[in-house]
Amino acid sequence: MNILLLGSGGREHALAWKISQSPDCNRLFVSPGNAGTNLFNVAENLVQNGYDQADFQRIANFIQQQNIELVIVGPEAPLVAGITDFLKNNSSTADVLVVGPTQAGAELEGSKDFAKQFMQRHNIPTAASRTFTADTLNEGLEYLQKQTSPIVLKADGLAAGKGVIICTTHDEATETLRDMLQHQKFGEASQKVVIEEFLDGIELSVFVLTDGKNYHLLPEAKDYKRIGENDTGPNTGGMGAVSPVPFADEEFLTKVKEQIVEPTIQGLAEENIDYRGFIFLGLMNVDGNPSVIEYNVRLGDPETQAVIPRLESDLVELLVATAKQQLSEVKVQISLQAAATVVMVSGGYPGSYEKGKAISGLSNKSGSLIFQAGTKAEEGKVVTSGGRVLAVTSLHSQLKTALEQSYIQVEQLHWDDVYYRKDIGQDILRYSADGK
Ligand code: AMP
Ligand code: GLY
Repeated sequence: MNILLLGSGGREHALAWKISQSPDCNRLFVSPGNAGTNLFNVAENLVQNGYDQADFQRIANFIQQQNIELVIVGPEAPLVAGITDFLKNNSSTADVLVVGPTQAGAELEGSKDFAKQFMQRHNIPTAASRTFTADTLNEGLEYLQKQTSPIVLKADGLAAGKGVIICTTHDEATETLRDMLQHQKFGEASQKVVIEEFLDGIELSVFVLTDGKNYHLLPEAKDYKRIGENDTGPNTGGMGAVSPVPFADEEFLTKVKEQIVEPTIQGLAEENIDYRGFIFLGLMNVDGNPSVIEYNVRLGDPETQAVIPRLESDLVELLVATAKQQLSEVKVQISLQAAATVVMVSGGYPGSYEKGKAISGLSNKSGSLIFQAGTKAEEGKVVTSGGRVLAVTSLHSQLKTALEQSYIQVEQLHWDDVYYRKDIGQDILRYSADGK
């Protein structure tokens, strides 16, 4: 079948790499793609500035022209904007299989207030919270005074991963709440603010593939969000990832399934929300018990670059079964090998950085996987075009060796002002009793 994958990051390169291995994949188009997904058919002009109705119409026309049978939506923005509903309600694309929830389902990520209320309705463990608007600012300020610090403030809407502020003092929380509600610190995204209890624990990401009735757990991962070593400095989209995560043992994952995944899927069904796609659970392990920090309605980036290489099953078969609500009929086979992903970024990221730097070393054949993100092809060369540029993944039975292999490959890749963290996975190695 012909397949269209929406997105342009390292996550999409990893998905494209896996999808293209399927015997069921005839032509794979990636839109807008990057220099790495150029190996496949790139459908560059479908998506222009963001995802609006005109973009959706261009996508629908392309689906018809190219006989696309399966669409996979990589990022959250088109889902929150309602692409799945658009394709289902458009007579020429109504029969196309779509992996990605409807707009109502995408609210789990699109509105933190919706997600919190959903979890409260369905008894899903999460930090205690309340939501305030500009009209209820004074109540919000009073509520803050009753909380113990640190206090977590979250912009309700999509804020490119920057909308969460952990305030260490009441004064900082007061100022931040005013900035968000009165001075629109995050624009429309902070018209509502969720004030949340701080959870102390270790974070991990759990990925679920669901057709709305049944589900499979994909490998869990841990990502490294801060720019600096030892988790210092500002948050980024993610500087690396490892999978599996040793503390996510069977007992913990059973709790995740029973207390979180199953009530989430049942809750969506009870609320008549059609959800066929990925659920990415951002979890905190608090003394052995999982608590939801956030829902995302897509796979993570760079977690996908660690998770997907561990998937032994045919991804197209799984995605088709998801869209057809036949997931109970297929099995998911996961490799026991560990995956280690190191992200290479432009110097200056997550602040300002220069683009257009020529990348060398991409033709190395070390056995590691090199997934591209912020890259583009220019005059026969691959140049940087974003903050996160490459993600290098290696697989090995020992995480320590997988990490070493990734770093050997990373050192072969160069551009002017490249930066990467040198401590990815070190905390996990320390955690593992035998240091393997
Ligand atoms: P989010 O955008 O919801 O993933 O939040 C960004 C980061 O803030 C998370 O990855 C956590 O590290 C942190 N965070 C969010 N909510 C909480 C919480 N309630 N307690 C502790 N840390 C949190
Ligand atoms: N790496 C975190 C995310 O994809 O949201």
